Amino acid sequence: MILVTGGLGFIGAHTTAALLEKNQEVLIADDLSNSSKEVLNGIERATGKKPSFVELDLKNKTEVTQLFNNHKIQGIIHFAAFKAVGESVHKPIEYYENNTVPLLNLLLEIKKSERKIPFIFSSSCTVYGEANSLPITEEEPIKPAQSPYGNTKQIGEEILLDATQALENLNVISLRYFNPIGAHPSNEIGELPLGTPQNLVPFITQTAVGLHKQLTVFGNDYPTPDGTCVRDYIHVVDLAKAHIAALERLENQLGDHSYEVFNLGTGSGNSVLEVIASFERVSGLKLNYTIGPRRNGDVIAAYADTQKAEKVLGWKAKQTLDQAIASAWAWEQKIRS
Ligand code: UD1
Repeated sequence: MILVTGGLGFIGAHTTAALLEKNQEVLIADDLSNSSKEVLNGIERATGKKPSFVELDLKNKTEVTQLFNNHKIQGIIHFAAFKAVGESVHKPIEYYENNTVPLLNLLLEIKKSERKIPFIFSSSCTVYGEANSLPITEEEPIKPAQSPYGNTKQIGEEILLDATQALENLNVISLRYFNPIGAHPSNEIGELPLGTPQNLVPFITQTAVGLHKQLTVFGNDYPTPDGTCVRDYIHVVDLAKAHIAALERLENQLGDHSYEVFNLGTGSGNSVLEVIASFERVSGLKLNYTIGPRRNGDVIAAYADTQKAEKVLGWKAKQTLDQAIASAWAWEQKIRS
């Protein structure tokens, strides 16, 4: 069975659904710190299958050992992590603890094992900072992290690279996500931000249902075509499928290297105003928004070069921005009704 840590979170739940749709057995380990058990029912309604679930704190070494003793874990997809950039600045110690100790505990178990255990790590395009060239390839140099959150992703990648040099049975793929949005086509799983969302798309859909008075566009004086920041928004269902392709690559030992990284995006950049226009198009609503000052730490533009993922993983994002936004909007309306 495949262990999916943080499997009740946004990307974790969609990846679990994709694994179940491929008839993989899934064991979710989640501490429910930023998720709910209700997501399990959503996954079951979406796929007709229920993953196994253990509520556990991956920071607790004994609990992680027990998990490995009690289950035949044949692969790991490690999502479990804190992810709020702003919060990480105020709680750096908690971020470093929560985003590295579980990783180390998992690696200690792999070290004890005789079996080859494919390992997929959730990384982020945040490791590139303001990239020197666009679209961003995997060759782009890593920049000093702008936040403790970003640093935990860089440290995670470094730990894994070093561990693969020492452990014969460890093969790793780090997936650097661009901006995941959207919801499952069944409308049974989607994003469930705790508190006020910091990310653009959930803030837009929440504003449209009246949870916020208006959206503030963070700056329109950037050197981009319309002055607002450009990002690569990828449908979470496409993103989930990339994990299946990565797992198959590791399972079949197709790589020449024990550690590989892939960018996961669509290859196209869209500005904040284009995302708003897409929302207005698919919803038929006018969004109340205003232009505000720049947000600290935002890069001007980031979108992926997708050639490596396409060539090596045989994976390509298929869904358009409008399709992704439409699914996010359907989900928001459902959870508020
Ligand atoms: C952010 C993080 C990134 C992290 C990702 C996880 C930063 C700098 N980056 O990505 O490291 O991996 O979240 O979810 O925080 N925007 C508005 N108004 C809003 C919200 C956002 O104009 O109310 C704009 C932002 O300025 C940005 C774009 O929308 O240009 C996307 O923002 P967001 O969804 O927060 O994603 P990132 O900042 O790209």
